[in-house]
Amino acid sequence: MDAQARCYSLKTAARQLAVLHPHSQSFAIAAYIVLTALLVLSNAAGSKGWNVPQTRVYNFTVHPLSITRLCSSKSIVSVNGKFPGPTIYANEGDRIIVRVTNRAQYDITIHWHGIRQILSCWADGPAYITQCPLQTGQSYVYNFTVTGQSGTLLWHAHETWLRGTVYGAIVIFPEAYPYTFPDEEHVIILGEWWKANVEDVETQALQAGNGPAIADAYTMNGLPGPLYNCSLQDTYVMKLHRNKTYLLRIVNAALNTELFFSIANHSLTVVEIDGDFTKHYTTNIIFLTPGQTTNVLLKTDQGGGRYYMGASPYMSAVKVPFQNTVTLGFLVYGESSTATTSNIPSFPASNDTNFVTQFSNSLRSLDDPSHPEGVPQTVDKSLFFTVGLGAKPCAPNQTCQGPNGNNFTASMNNISLILPKVAILQAYYFNISGVFQSTFPDSPLSVFDYTATNPPNNLTPESATKVNVIPFNSNVQLILQDTSLLGAENHPIHLHGYSFYIVGQGFGNYQASSANFNLVDPPRRNTVGVPVGGWAAIRFKADNPGVWYMHCHLEIHTTWGLAMAFIVPNGIGANQTLPPPPSDLPAC
Ligand code: C2O
Repeated sequence: MDAQARCYSLKTAARQLAVLHPHSQSFAIAAYIVLTALLVLSNAAGSKGWNVPQTRVYNFTVHPLSITRLCSSKSIVSVNGKFPGPTIYANEGDRIIVRVTNRAQYDITIHWHGIRQILSCWADGPAYITQCPLQTGQSYVYNFTVTGQSGTLLWHAHETWLRGTVYGAIVIFPEAYPYTFPDEEHVIILGEWWKANVEDVETQALQAGNGPAIADAYTMNGLPGPLYNCSLQDTYVMKLHRNKTYLLRIVNAALNTELFFSIANHSLTVVEIDGDFTKHYTTNIIFLTPGQTTNVLLKTDQGGGRYYMGASPYMSAVKVPFQNTVTLGFLVYGESSTATTSNIPSFPASNDTNFVTQFSNSLRSLDDPSHPEGVPQTVDKSLFFTVGLGAKPCAPNQTCQGPNGNNFTASMNNISLILPKVAILQAYYFNISGVFQSTFPDSPLSVFDYTATNPPNNLTPESATKVNVIPFNSNVQLILQDTSLLGAENHPIHLHGYSFYIVGQGFGNYQASSANFNLVDPPRRNTVGVPVGGWAAIRFKADNPGVWYMHCHLEIHTTWGLAMAFIVPNGIGANQTLPPPPSDLPAC
């Protein structure tokens, strides 16, 4: 990265703090001074010049915050009193250290969604998978290095439904930009808002055995916007200048909703997804599942005025109630007395699967000479996992409002994950027996017509804590097959610790003979929306030892058990061996 570019990145970081936290100008200035000092130091640091990695230290205090939206106040769990939480900035190659202190009334962990965590599985964060949660009063230092990835990722709580309000962006500046160097950049985090306490929404859903209460609003940078009652003053406004190029870092942090995003009168050029460069793709509307991020270039080349931007839901399941409304904000530039306000952008219908398919099929990884792709061309470990919903019997003393008076559940390969009482990684590392079984099957034990219109109704998933072991360094191919049991649905499946290539996808049951794979420049992501009533094929090299969670990023589905974990054992030598846990790893 050249000096000018790095200086730009650091200035942007400081400015961004000011943009996201308008009351902390002085903090931003202080941050700029610190960052500039770091820059000078790094420049003086020797022959490597700008490329000397830095350590970025953050303190996250998790605590209650009283907040009002839609004319209704509640106490949320926040980080440092901010909602959304603070953005983490780093350059590619930097070490990030976050000291998290829990001053909230709930147990918590934080997950750095999309960070590869190479040899740092202990810092990954999912509760009871890689660590026990931080109880009230406890601290834990998450320590990891950003290697081989840049762009936008997100961090969020990874215990119960706390990520409903505990989330923020991670911005990683690349060494070099393979697209127009933007004049400025902004983060837009989309979320989902309940007037009720989100933890109560989860508890009530579990008690009733049914789907959760639908959200009251969607939000943009924490604000629902003008289409909701009592929300006009809570509208996100992004002030820009005319005839400039902006980088927008768009994140879907919603709990349970896949979203479309669009800006009136402007097109968006996709340049990065999930922290990986793409070939340029210009469109009016983008689509993001929870857990996905998309960087787009925006040119402020219209006449000037106030332009609506917004997000609306995609709901692929039929008969599932959802919040069918739009969160809106404004993009404002070149305002004059004659400037106008745009129309609201037009969004696809909430069931527009064709749009979602066409959008996903248009994404390609960059694959240029300086960014060659490493798509595994051969497969050592071939896996086939079904993903879908199910029902489990109502307990004798319970009244269940789920399917036919039963409880909703969800599973992979008909196994519904039960989280253990000790983290699987601890049990694995210290040989604690009785915590998990290594018998998660490579393919379903009961084979049926997965996407039939009349699927079998006698398949009650097994509830268990089972992992699948992948030999170190194997090339893995995993087919994720949606099922129509209790209704097909697009499931955003997220894998921890890896980015994977989405080499193919289709509708109906996967058939190797007719599947069409792109092994040249498929998109690389950490979360794939498995098409409703269809399948997706992903490939990755299992070169990072640890216990890696894989689950549906619709939170209610994870709660119901649509999750499993992989174990990748150590390879040979220190570079392929997970170090012991940090001494402050919380105990259960
Ligand atoms: Cu973004 Cu396991 O989560």
